[in-house]
Amino acid sequence: MNKTYILESRPVGAPTTENFKLTDTELRDLQDGEVLLKALYISVDPYMRGRMSDAKSYVAPYEIGKPIVGGVVAEVVESRSSLYPKGAVVIGGLPWQQYSIHSGQGLHRVDPDVAPLSYYLGILGMPGQTAYFGLLHIGKPKAGETVVVSGAAGAVGTVVGQLAKLKGCRVVGVAGSDEKVAYLKDQLGFDEAINYKTTPDLNAAMAQACPNGVDVYFDNVGGPISDAVLLFINKFARIAICGQIAYYNNTAPATGMRVEPILLKKSALMKGFIVSDFASEFGTATKELATWVREGKLQYQETVKEGFEQLPEAFLGLFTGDNTGKLLVKVADLGS
Ligand SMILES: NC(=O)c1ccc[n+]([C@@H]2O[C@H](COP(=O)([O-])OP(=O)(O)OC[C@H]3O[C@@H](n4cnc5c(N)ncnc54)[C@H](OP(=O)(O)O)[C@@H]3O)[C@@H](O)[C@H]2O)c1
Repeated sequence: MNKTYILESRPVGAPTTENFKLTDTELRDLQDGEVLLKALYISVDPYMRGRMSDAKSYVAPYEIGKPIVGGVVAEVVESRSSLYPKGAVVIGGLPWQQYSIHSGQGLHRVDPDVAPLSYYLGILGMPGQTAYFGLLHIGKPKAGETVVVSGAAGAVGTVVGQLAKLKGCRVVGVAGSDEKVAYLKDQLGFDEAINYKTTPDLNAAMAQACPNGVDVYFDNVGGPISDAVLLFINKFARIAICGQIAYYNNTAPATGMRVEPILLKKSALMKGFIVSDFASEFGTATKELATWVREGKLQYQETVKEGFEQLPEAFLGLFTGDNTGKLLVKVADLGS
């Protein structure tokens, strides 16, 4: 028998565990050309909230009664494919399933000797690439400039802040707990960090943290944090819109400050992006990120939940700030 999480219902507002259902299915025999995959690490990511709704977006919605699909690192435990031998480790968009049968198309092999396998779902995977391209290709930080990142203690934010430090910038992070603020300053070398949940005056905190204004804003969250940052942007500021998690559970379009006059007066650039826009350059980014990790120039933090059944709770934790660094679920050991 094989455990699978399917989408039971679409959330209205914040998702709950009721939206997911654990099912047991029998595995069929492998056919020629197929591999049997055992999930080792399963990623939970904020964009999956969008797929739980049926609104049109850049990825198709999950279907009711069908498995949730996301980033998974898996071991090939049986193979009738020429693409991957038994024992190979692969990454791909796979169902939330302990075992899955796959054609092998669209998967990528990963090397357990280069980095811990979980890294391929984080700093050496989609979130790391998101930080890399959003900051370096849109933010284009220059030494001495001030970079602000929201969602600073998460998977993307921790990499953004460290990359900006490597580029010689003053880095200010915004995050949701005192522990996260301490981690950003003491462990990752951020110059300043603000706890947006407890600061009595976000604008005053931003003014204090950014005495020379803001040249680059890497936005992971939107909402009142972004409103505060935008008040302090400098002439020719660059604003990379990476995520808007503050709105993902909204049931009506968000309203707020009009930003256009600020952008106009400051000749600023605001640009949204999806990491797949840069797919042709993923190889270069991963190589560079892996070098910086190996050289100790980039630190890496994970929040790992143990056990397949933890998946829904782990996912919900993204919206309550449960995680520091990349949030993921460990399902099995390699070779177990
Ligand atoms: N454009 C792309 O291609 C792309 C790719 C990957 C990710 N993203 C986006 O980037 C953002 C970060 O993703 P991630 O994977 O690194 O997730 P993450 O930051 O590791 O986890 C989400 C974090 O968001 C914060 N958060 C939750 N609700 C919030 C709210 N209402 N206001 C402010 N902060 C809130 C929480 O931290 P606190 O404790 O600080 O609240 C939580 O830990 C997300 O918006 C995601 O959708 C975009």
